[in-house]
Amino acid sequence: MSKEVNSESVSLCPLSTPAATEQEMLCIFGTGDLGRSLGQRLFQTGYKVVYGSRRPHSCGPLPPGTQVQTQSARLVFVCIHRENYNFLETLAPQLKGKVLVDVSNNLKKNMYPEANAEYLQRLIPGAQVVKGFNTLSAWALQNGPSDASRQVYVCGNSLEAKQAVIEVATKLGFTVLDRGSLTAARELEDFPLQLFPEWRLPLQLATGLTAFFFFYLLIRDVIYSYVVNDKDISFRIMASLANKVFPIVSLIMLSLCYLPGVIAAFLQLYRGTKYKRFPDWLDRWMLCRKQLGLVALALASLHVLYTLIIPIRYYVRYRLAAHTISQIKENKTSPFDTTMAWRTDSYYVIGILGFGLYLLLGITSLPSVSNVLSWREFSFIQSKLGYLTLFFCTFHTYLYGWDKFLQPSSYKWFMLPGYMLSLVVPSVVLVLKLLLLLPCVDSTLTRIRQGWERTDPEKKKKNYQSELAVCSGLCLLHL
Ligand SMILES: Cc1cc2nc3c(=O)[nH]c(=O)nc-3n(C[C@H](O)[C@H](O)[C@H](O)COP(=O)(O)OP(=O)(O)OC[C@H]3O[C@@H](n4cnc5c(N)ncnc54)[C@H](O)[C@@H]3O)c2cc1C
Ligand SMILES: NC(=O)c1ccc[n+]([C@@H]2O[C@H](COP(=O)([O-])OP(=O)(O)OC[C@H]3O[C@@H](n4cnc5c(N)ncnc54)[C@H](OP(=O)(O)O)[C@@H]3O)[C@@H](O)[C@H]2O)c1
Ligand code: HEM
Repeated sequence: MSKEVNSESVSLCPLSTPAATEQEMLCIFGTGDLGRSLGQRLFQTGYKVVYGSRRPHSCGPLPPGTQVQTQSARLVFVCIHRENYNFLETLAPQLKGKVLVDVSNNLKKNMYPEANAEYLQRLIPGAQVVKGFNTLSAWALQNGPSDASRQVYVCGNSLEAKQAVIEVATKLGFTVLDRGSLTAARELEDFPLQLFPEWRLPLQLATGLTAFFFFYLLIRDVIYSYVVNDKDISFRIMASLANKVFPIVSLIMLSLCYLPGVIAAFLQLYRGTKYKRFPDWLDRWMLCRKQLGLVALALASLHVLYTLIIPIRYYVRYRLAAHTISQIKENKTSPFDTTMAWRTDSYYVIGILGFGLYLLLGITSLPSVSNVLSWREFSFIQSKLGYLTLFFCTFHTYLYGWDKFLQPSSYKWFMLPGYMLSLVVPSVVLVLKLLLLLPCVDSTLTRIRQGWERTDPEKKKKNYQSELAVCSGLCLLHL
């Protein structure tokens, strides 16, 4: 700053004298990571940048061409942590009338009773504080909007001040979203603290189901064999058990993508209208279907990779060789089982088709792909082909199970095989969907979704009477 300000702890002083004034001048307080990156971007965009620093001669390397001086800069970016804002109070007279851009974030939500930007406004009432740029990282600023988030959120009480900040952000190549007055600052400060909020539920569900099925199958397969048959097959945990748990969880999660749509349809049929809000839990469930589906796809991909290594596993090669040798020794050949050939080929092929469609759902959920699809195309793939995917994957598992459910050895310690448990939800979803496809049900649902409402005659009469009363009231008023 051209004029040195003395305070107990800090002073902001110029690094050099002011230069030409043709370019718009912007000021940055703080020569830390964000201050330096922002300065560099602003300078590259054609702004004249000046810094305010406590230690102008020992601060980190500043972008070449930048300097310090605030007198002619109307816009000041405060790139300082909130904990150090108190010294700004001493600069209140110099900052009067200036637009202060608060870029700060906190380490935790609700750390302070008021938002940082509101605190800054309270410290310097004469300035116009605008919250903004806090959702970008120093890294994103350095690399430009093409490499990271393109969005800048702003909020502030002065329209004019906000406009000035929006102009700068737009020139830097960012898309700006105005979130209203400074009361929205807390919400903006909470944005960078969020860690994949929409992924939380799907990931928790995947972890919970994986843990459940892992321990279930561990008891049913490994511990049972150890206790009852005195056989240690613990090596199966690594590949066999994992190759059961992943597809089982994947299939359940895939069906959970389609269950809310079915519940929503039955709810709409029951209520006879689409104009009543769904319960919150259903709304939230519907909103995380994309993440549910993508986690399910990741697990299905693991199943496919695990399946690829089956032929090269030591245990499998050993079993195959031992079987062949024993047949040679006993001079026996097992007859070719055509039914078995049909069954195995069918479940592999159906599995492959299911996985192919699964991948298609994943590809169309990429923003670059979904952006070029019309709503109808997207909905056709996600909904229609999505149900086909669920059907193939369920059928693949039924074929894999084949007649095992008839064998008493399948029910160890009265525990059902894992694949049987995994078939419950998908089968329910598919049966309910079939019911919804019945022509009489489908036509009613379609009408409801097009805006038709079913009202019971008693309610209709009451509505008619109240409408009549309102009408006559209006007529009387008119007279
Ligand atoms: C790998 C993978 C990727 C996925 N990616 C995505 C993705 O990118 N985006 C995504 O949304 N899903 C995604 N999903 C989840 C799933 O495929 C879709 O949500 C699919 O559209 C669900 O189909 P549906 O027929 O059950 O429901 P929908 O097509 O959503 O609903 C059926 C009908 O219900 C009505 N309806 C839906 N919601 C409401 C509502 N709130 N109020 C009133 N009526 C309503 C609609 O009119 C629609 O005709 C993905 C799944 C997988 C496996
Ligand atoms: N880094 C990011 O990616 C990022 C992203 C979004 C938002 N932010 C926000 O931007 C602000 C700055 O972050 P940063 O990462 O640049 O921090 P930093 O590297 O620690 O820099 C902070 C700067 O504040 C100045 N300062 C003024 N008074 C101070 C004091 N009493 N004690 C210590 N420093 C003081 C210092 O500059 P001088 O020594 O020159 O005075 C210091 O370099 C924070 O509010 C942060 O929440 C940062
Ligand atoms: C390339 C595609 C696929 C191939 C080649 C394939 C192959 C296999 C094989 C070989 C098994 C038996 C594994 C074993 O003996 O332990 C199996 C089981 C299973 N598969 Fe697939 N699969 C494919 C895709 C899928 C998909 C997309 C799903 C859906 C999520 C799925 C769900 C299942 C289930 C639930 C089981 C039963 C697991 C068990 O309890 O043993 N598969 N599959």
